[in-house]
Formats: sequence, structure tokens, C-alpha cells
Amino acid sequence: MYSRRKMGTSLAVVLVKLILLTALLEAAARIAAAQSKPGCLSQCGDISIPYPFGTGNDCNITEEFFITCNTTSIPNKAFLTDSNIEVVNISLDGQLRVLSLASYDCYNSSGRSYYFNYWLQLSKFPVNNTRNKFTAIGCDTFAVVEFPSGEYATGCLSLCNDVGDVINGSCSGIGCCQTSIPKGVSGYNINLYSPDNHTQVLADNPCSYAFVAEDTAHNFSNSDLGGYDLLEKQFPVILDWTIGHDTSCSEAKKDIDNFACTENSNCVDSEISSGSYICKCFEGFEGNPYLSNGCQEIDECETLEPKPCNMTCHNFPGSYNCSCPEGFQGDGWNNGTGCSRPISPIKKRSLTNIVLGSGIGFFALLLGITLLYLILKQRQIAKLREKYFQQNGGTLLQEKLSQREGYREKVKVFAAEELKKATNNYHESRILGQGGQGTVFKGILPDNQMVAIKKSRIGDHSQVEPFINEISVLYQINHRNVVKLLGCCLETPVPLLVYEYVTNGTLFDHMHNVAGASFLPWEARLRIATETAEALSYLHSAASIPIIHRDIKLANILLDEHFTAKVSDFGASRLIPSDQAQVTTIIQGTFGYLDPEYMQTGQLTEKSDVYSFGVVLIELLTGQKAVCFARSEDKKILAMYFVSLMKEDRLLEIVDPRVMNDGNLEHLKEVAALAWKCVRMKGEERPSMKEVAHELAGLQAMEKHPWGKSNLHAEEAEYLLGELCNSCDNGASSSSVGYDSINNQVTFELEGAR
Ligand SMILES: *[C@@H]1O[C@H](CO)[C@@H](O)[C@H](O)[C@H]1NC(C)=O
Ligand SMILES: *[C@@H]1O[C@H](CO)[C@@H](O)[C@H](O)[C@H]1NC(C)=O
Ligand SMILES: *[C@@H]1O[C@H](CO)[C@@H](O)[C@H](O)[C@H]1NC(C)=O
Ligand SMILES: *[C@@H]1O[C@H](CO)[C@@H](O)[C@H](O)[C@H]1NC(C)=O
Ligand SMILES: *[C@@H]1O[C@H](CO)[C@@H](O)[C@H](O)[C@H]1NC(C)=O
Ligand SMILES: *[C@@H]1O[C@H](CO)[C@@H](O)[C@H](O)[C@H]1NC(C)=O
Ligand SMILES: *[C@@H]1O[C@H](CO)[C@@H](O)[C@H](O)[C@H]1NC(C)=O
Ligand SMILES: *[C@@H]1O[C@H](CO)[C@@H](O)[C@H](O)[C@H]1NC(C)=O
Ligand SMILES: *[C@@H]1O[C@H](CO)[C@@H](O)[C@H](O)[C@H]1NC(C)=O
Ligand SMILES: *[C@@H]1O[C@H](CO)[C@@H](O)[C@H](O)[C@H]1NC(C)=O
Ligand SMILES: *[C@@H]1O[C@H](CO)[C@@H](O)[C@H](O)[C@H]1NC(C)=O
Repeated sequence: MYSRRKMGTSLAVVLVKLILLTALLEAAARIAAAQSKPGCLSQCGDISIPYPFGTGNDCNITEEFFITCNTTSIPNKAFLTDSNIEVVNISLDGQLRVLSLASYDCYNSSGRSYYFNYWLQLSKFPVNNTRNKFTAIGCDTFAVVEFPSGEYATGCLSLCNDVGDVINGSCSGIGCCQTSIPKGVSGYNINLYSPDNHTQVLADNPCSYAFVAEDTAHNFSNSDLGGYDLLEKQFPVILDWTIGHDTSCSEAKKDIDNFACTENSNCVDSEISSGSYICKCFEGFEGNPYLSNGCQEIDECETLEPKPCNMTCHNFPGSYNCSCPEGFQGDGWNNGTGCSRPISPIKKRSLTNIVLGSGIGFFALLLGITLLYLILKQRQIAKLREKYFQQNGGTLLQEKLSQREGYREKVKVFAAEELKKATNNYHESRILGQGGQGTVFKGILPDNQMVAIKKSRIGDHSQVEPFINEISVLYQINHRNVVKLLGCCLETPVPLLVYEYVTNGTLFDHMHNVAGASFLPWEARLRIATETAEALSYLHSAASIPIIHRDIKLANILLDEHFTAKVSDFGASRLIPSDQAQVTTIIQGTFGYLDPEYMQTGQLTEKSDVYSFGVVLIELLTGQKAVCFARSEDKKILAMYFVSLMKEDRLLEIVDPRVMNDGNLEHLKEVAALAWKCVRMKGEERPSMKEVAHELAGLQAMEKHPWGKSNLHAEEAEYLLGELCNSCDNGASSSSVGYDSINNQVTFELEGAR
């Protein structure tokens, strides 16, 4: 009896313990795994579906977060809303992984055999731009990815003669090329072109492929080129998700019923899609911040490894701290002083005395040094100014200019103080622009004359002579379409240049709808193009020594109050003694506008400017579409895309529909043909700037007396207007800031040149 009773008790204890343990484990599991709303499916196949996502009625926060779980496929598969976009992972920190396909373009001996054009359109969640890349694979491959919201397009070119040339894992243009994608796009459309129909590489590489994917998802290898493996391959893409439409945290909090963040969590405004937010558990908490009681306290004393505290650890909601038990000294932290037995009081005092004594001595010494330094510095400043003046070539300039009678009085060498005052000590609010050669400030001289002051970035003193050369040449140029140089200052560490102030911004501002810049109709664009061509033609042939500008781009064409073009920024320009091509080892200019021949060989001729001008002409023609190719490195792709379409007589697909309406189609075609000639790969096949200027001037003269209305069919125009990116108008002005092409200057050294 006695023994039986005892056994009964212990059994009961074990049972109770077991029940308690199961409950505990269950609670732990609920926190760790089941992060869905109570009563909702928490898994679909292998994929866990945390709230705000959900698969059933009322399991999802809004309709965009609905997940369709196909239970007939094995394992079960999850799809975003009712789309065919498969979801493979959802994380609570605001990202999810979906699967996508590649576009492909395959050939056999009789021509194109298969073509598939992949596009993805998401209702809300944008494609993450840092974790995904656009990749194209092939030996005769030109791939363009367009973002249907219309804000951008980009692309890349991949070529190879021999599959043996490709390097596994390297996507730098041989067999594989890669480029980044812009921020905040919620879909894309990938088109492939094959310049040679794969005829030269058919045996080794029948297909071109292009896809957007998580950057670690695919390791390129030469086996991708020969086979057909990528036709069916699925690629993971990372999307960002956020809560709310046009509701930032501060607004969302006012609407308590719909506010998604629960207790112990913070609301964080999304930096990706403004007007939306995500929730995050407080520091020291973990779990699902969208479920009530989702964020649970973490016991750091138990969970953290290695242990943070040396002896005693206190856990409290949201945080923890360390301390030492009575009789020990130190802060208790293992990364701090830990805990140790105290030093005896006598030792401590003498230590304090030493520290105090040496502290005072040190302070006195410091004071002395500072005073001495200040006095010496004052003296040095004066000397330094003189030194800079010499270094920056002041003497050289004075000599050069004194040789040229007549220009002498125009020369103004400004004092450093004067320009400092004029720009309010180079205040940020005075910055007009920033470029490869330096920063441009707006200045107001004492006589109220407005000027633009360029603070050069040339710190390299080997650059001084050519720099001075340029100043002295610019003094001689007197052309209505070239910005006037008024003077310079050489007393500062970097030379400063002072130009006339041109009021209406740059052509870039107007073409990219930068805040406040007006739309340019076709006549204005044609006139600006003509004026720019005339200025370049003058630089190339009329000036006493031909000058190659080397950095023609929208941002370097300024517009005055009458929208007259003024070519500016001669920082990269070179003087070329007549009829003598120059081989430079340093390639300079803006990527995307750079003459490909010059890039390869370093051979600098006037035709390099013709190429850059051709790209500008294409931008003037394509307007909206060019805005889509917003980054300066994309201009190269724009030019190639333009040429691809011209070859197939598909000009209408790329011309700015707004200028097509009020312009004359025949004129547009002629300008397009001219632009095509300007961007020919071989310099010698391009026309001279003089010929270009002449042809444009002829067209412009006719434009003034149009022979009749545009013969474009109304239907056609409407179609194009509808299809082309409308959102560029509002989108580009803000988003183009992130892709500031003005800053995108390149200077690099040619390998093996010399
Ligand atoms: C969840 O998604 C479904 C399907 O789109 C939708 O009908 C439902 O309204 C959504 N639930 C909520 C609470 O919005
Ligand atoms: C679910 O998957 C099966 C097998 O993959 C497929 O046949 C079926 O069409 C899918 N159902 C839905 C609704 O997509
Ligand atoms: C989803 O992502 C998380 C964190 O990135 C990872 O721990 C988990 O294994 C992934 N699940 C699947 C099914 O890929
Ligand atoms: C090339 O592909 C097309 C389309 O698949 C096919 O009709 C044709 O027979 C193929 N030609 C050769 C030579 O294989
Ligand atoms: C993209 O992913 C990175 C890394 O997960 C993240 O820091 C970033 O906020 C995400 N969104 C954008 C627009 O970069
Ligand atoms: C490529 O094929 C198209 C038609 O399939 C043809 O018009 C074009 O001339 C071909 N191009 C080359 C370079 O073979
Ligand atoms: C790609 O290569 C890296 C290292 O070489 C490897 O860690 C990674 O798992 C590979 N990725 C794929 C998808 O094979
Ligand atoms: C590149 O990778 C492929 C397949 O992964 C392999 O067959 C080939 O030998 C590799 N080539 C080199 C040069 O490593
Ligand atoms: C550590 O936290 C406990 C509990 O909040 C508190 O009583 C103690 O004073 C804290 N100690 C230190 C060193 O901050
Ligand atoms: C020690 O680590 C904790 C937690 O990582 C940190 O808060 C603290 O500042 C660190 N202390 C020192 C002295 O580095
Ligand atoms: C505590 O700190 C002392 C001195 O910094 C160190 O020797 C000892 O290993 C530490 N103890 C623990 C448990 O980390």
C-alpha cells in the first residue's frame, strides 16, 4: 500500500512535468516557426508563410499579401496572389524570394529557331536593386532590359570569338555581361538582339540568354554557352515588401485599426517606396511584429554566445546588463574590464597622484604647442599662397599671356579672398553642379556681376602646364556658343576658374525634367544641336590650334536665357597640332559618351567628339526614351539600341512621341540618319563636325519654313504616346538624382599603351 502510493505520486509528478514541458515547447515552437495568424496555414510545402502574408480568408493583411498554395503539386507550391509568380522564401525583415525565367534567342543554320521574351510585372513589391543583377550570356548577344513603369532601360553587350576565351565566373563582356538595375522598379521586360544572328559562333553557342536574378544565384561557366540548360532554368529574384499605400509611419499610427505594428515593435518608414513602412521588434525582442504578442523578449543572458558578462548577468525587458558581485571591481563586461579583486587603497592613491601630476604637465605642454603652431601657421599661409601661385603655373600663365598683345587687358587673375567672398566661402547652397573636373559654384562679384566659379580637382602638378595652356587658349576663343572664361585664381591649393554665368541650366536638366526645367520642343532641340555642332566645328577647325573637347554630353551644354547653347567644361579638352592624331595613355571623358575606338586605342582625333555629339543627337531625338536610359553608362546601350532599331527601320519605336507630333517626320529621319553616321564604330566613317553642322543648319533653315504638317497618322501617334513611358515626367526628376550622370566621369589608363 505504502509503496503503491509512493509510486502513484511520482507518476503524477512526471505527468505534470511532461504536460508543462509540452506546453512550453509548443509556445517556443509558436514563436520560432508558426508566424502566421492563428488559425491560418503556416506552411505551404517547405515554405513558411508569416503574417502579413497568408493563404486563406482574413489570413493576409491586404490583397497583395495573399498567397495561393497549390496543394495538388508535390511538394506544394506557393504563388504570389493569383499570379504565376512562385514564392520560395518570405522573410519578416521585408524581403521575399520569387522565381523567374530567362529570355532566350536561339539560332540554327536556317536562322532564328526559338525566341522567348520574359517579362515580370508585380503589383506592389519592387525588385531589390542591390541584391539582384541583370545578366546576359552569349557570344553574339546584345540584351536590353526595360522597366515597364517607364523610368529606365539598361542593358549590356556580350561577345566572344572562341568559347575557350571565356573565364568561368567572370561576367565582364566575354561570353557573359552584367549590369545593375535601378532602384524601385516593380517589373521588367527583357529583349535580346543578335548582331550577327549567331552565324559566326553557331557550333559553340546557339543561344543568347538574359535574366534578372539574385546576384549569387548563377555562377557563369563556359558550359552555359554550348547547351540549352538555361532555357528552362528558374532564377531567384529578391523583392522588397512593405505595408501601406501612401501611408508613412506618422500617418499610419493615427489610424489605429489598420496600423500593422503591434506591441513591442517599432514602425520604420520604408526608404524604398516612400509612403509605406515595415515593423520591427524592439531591440532585445524577436518574433513577428505584425501579430499581437508576436514580439517576445529575448533572454540575452542565456542566448548570447560568447557570454557577454564576466560574472553576473541581469536580463530585463529589451536589454540586459552586467555587473560584478560585492567585493569585486570592474564593469563586469567581458569586452570591458571584467571583474577582478580590487587593488589596495594605498596603491590606488599614489596611482591617482601620478595620473593627476602628469595630466597638468601635459596640459601646459599642449597649450604651448598650440600657441606656437598658431603663430607659425599665420606666417605659413602667406608663403603658401605664393607657393600655390607658382605651383599652379601662375608664372607660366603670366609669361604666356604677356606674349599675346591685345588679350592682356582681358586677363583677370582673381585673388583668393575675392572669390571666397563671392561664393559665400564656397557655401553648399551655391553649388551649381559637380563634375569630373570639379565643383561649380555660383558667385556674385562686388560689382554684382554673376559668375560661375569652378573649383578644379586637379591636384596633380604634372597637370599644370596643360591646364594653363587651356586657360590661355580659352581666352582666345570667342564664339557665341562657347561659354566665356573670365579669369582664374592660382593662389589656392587647386586652381579656380571663373566663367560667365549662364542662367538656364544645362541641356541635361531640360531633357531629364529636372525640377523647374521646361520641355524643349523639336525646333529648340534642333537649334541647340546646330549651335553645339557649330561650336565644335569652330573648335576643330577655325581656332588657331584645333581643340578636341573630349567631354561632350548633355550636362556640358549650357543654355542661356534665350536657350542659346553654350558649350562648357573644357577641363578634359586637348590641343592637337593640326592633322596629327595624338595617342594618349590616359583615357578621359564620360563613359557612355566615349568614342569606342578612342577607348580601345587611345588614338584621339576630332572624330571622338563627333561620336559624343552623335550620342547627344540621339538623346535629343529620343527624349523620353533617353530619359529611360538615365545613367550615363547606359548611353552607350542607348546608342546601340538606336542603331539596332535604325537597321531594322524601326525608328518610330524610339523617337520621342512628343516631338514627333509637332515635328516633321522626314526631318526627324534625316537627323536620325545623321546621328547614326556620327556613332559609327570607326572614326574615319563618321562625318566631320563641319559637315554635321552644315547639314543641321540646312535642316534648321527648312524647319523655319515647314512645307506642311507632319504626315504621321493620328492613330500611330496615339499608340506611341500611350505605350511609351508616361511616368517619366514625374518619375525621372526625382529618380534621376540617384543616377546622376554628371558625376559619372571616367579617367583610366590604357593597358599596355606607351
Ligand atoms: C486577402 O487576399 C484576398 C485575395 O486577394 C482578398 O480577397 C482579401 O480581401 C484579403 N484580405 C484582406 C484582409 O485584405
Ligand atoms: C497546381 O499544380 C498542378 C501540378 O503541378 C497543376 O496541374 C495545376 O494546374 C495547379 N493548379 C493551379 C490552380 O494552378
Ligand atoms: C529562407 O530564408 C531564411 C533566411 O534568409 C533561411 O534561414 C531559410 O532557410 C530560407 N528558407 C528556404 C526554404 O529557403
Ligand atoms: C531550325 O529551327 C526551325 C524552328 O525550330 C526548324 O523549323 C528548322 O527545321 C531548323 N533548321 C535546321 C537546319 O535544323
Ligand atoms: C535591398 O536589399 C538590401 C540587403 O538586404 C537592403 O539593405 C536594402 O534596403 C534593400 N532595398 C534597396 C532598395 O536597396
Ligand atoms: C539576321 O536575320 C534577319 C532575318 O532573320 C536578316 O534580316 C538579317 O539580315 C540577318 N543578319 C545577319 C547579320 O545575318
Ligand atoms: C557559386 O560559386 C560559389 C563559390 O565559388 C559558391 O559558394 C556558390 O554556392 C555557387 N553558387 C551556385 C548557385 O552554384
Ligand atoms: C569551367 O566550368 C566548366 C563547367 O563547370 C568546366 O567544364 C570547365 O572545365 C571550366 N573551365 C575552366 C577553365 O575552369
Ligand atoms: C542592471 O540592471 C538591473 C535591473 O534593471 C539594475 O538593478 C542594475 O542597477 C543595473 N546595473 C548596472 C550596472 O547598470
Ligand atoms: C561590450 O559589448 C556590449 C554588447 O555588445 C556593448 O553594448 C558595449 O558597449 C561593449 N563595451 C565595450 C567597452 O566595448
Ligand atoms: C573574467 O575576467 C577575467 C579578467 O578579465 C578573466 O581572466 C576571466 O577568464 C573572465 N571569466 C569569464 C568566465 O569569462
